[in-house]
Amino acid sequence: MPEHAPETSRTRPDGLLFPDPVRAIIDVREKLAGLRHEKAIVVGLVPTMGSLHEGHLSLVRAAQASCDVVVVSIFINPIQFGAAEDMDTYPADLEKDMALLASVGTDMVFVPPAGELYPEGFETMIDVGSTAKGLCGQSRPGHFEGVATVVAKLLNIISPDRAFFGQKDAQQVVVIRRMVSDLNFDVEIISCPTVRGDDGLALSSRNAYLSEDERSQATVLYRSLLQARDAVAAGETRSAKLKRMIRKLIGAEYMVDFEYARIVDPWTLEPVDEVEGPVLVAIAAMVGNARLIDNMIIEPGGGS
Ligand code: PAF
Repeated sequence: MPEHAPETSRTRPDGLLFPDPVRAIIDVREKLAGLRHEKAIVVGLVPTMGSLHEGHLSLVRAAQASCDVVVVSIFINPIQFGAAEDMDTYPADLEKDMALLASVGTDMVFVPPAGELYPEGFETMIDVGSTAKGLCGQSRPGHFEGVATVVAKLLNIISPDRAFFGQKDAQQVVVIRRMVSDLNFDVEIISCPTVRGDDGLALSSRNAYLSEDERSQATVLYRSLLQARDAVAAGETRSAKLKRMIRKLIGAEYMVDFEYARIVDPWTLEPVDEVEGPVLVAIAAMVGNARLIDNMIIEPGGGS
């Protein structure tokens, strides 16, 4: 490490100083234009709402593996939260996030204030179609319109070649792929595997709301997916039966409030009655104050 580089949370592993968060659209565009002017670069974008964990870092690493410059955005997007949702309590700790990003060596962190993305008079939203209606869309009306709109804005601001999302938010990935295809965004959407804790619980910023007991019971989400996978491997093909099994297992945990279990086509999210090829098994439940989701792609003859 060079002598002048202070030992701060913003020191990158390679000894270089980690850049401060970029707040203004004009600055992030200018910095990227400068880099693009020097030489042809592949830019990767990892959009986040902060409260970063190993799942987010795995996206950054995936981006680093195939891109020259990686931009992480941190923005708690108000328009994707319903009135009764946890926007106001959503965990936020920018210093911690910056330290984590420094530990993996991110190139640029875009942290716009809300007024930068939604200035006075903002009113244009992306109206996503059928992919946003089922699963989480049923209990979170407007959520995916909010996600699609902010992702569209980030894609327009950063113009990345690739954008990276976690497969834990499987419906989000499908909605964004649809939008990118329908609106001709010139970007490749890459979905990265769900990262789990040792107990199998999918990593989520909302896990921070869980007590120890709630966390232990929340592992039933993953256990129910494994049970469905095993049942399909053993020859069960009826979606109705698989969904009943999942519901029963989740119902056995008194702290877990079952919301849905669906078996759908992984690309269109259309319901599937008989498991004859790869299907997405998606579940949602409330555990204490945390609304948790999880999913697995399952296919007859094994694989997930
Ligand atoms: O997955 C998330 O964290 C958010 O939905 C996203 C994609 C950053 C948009 O706000």
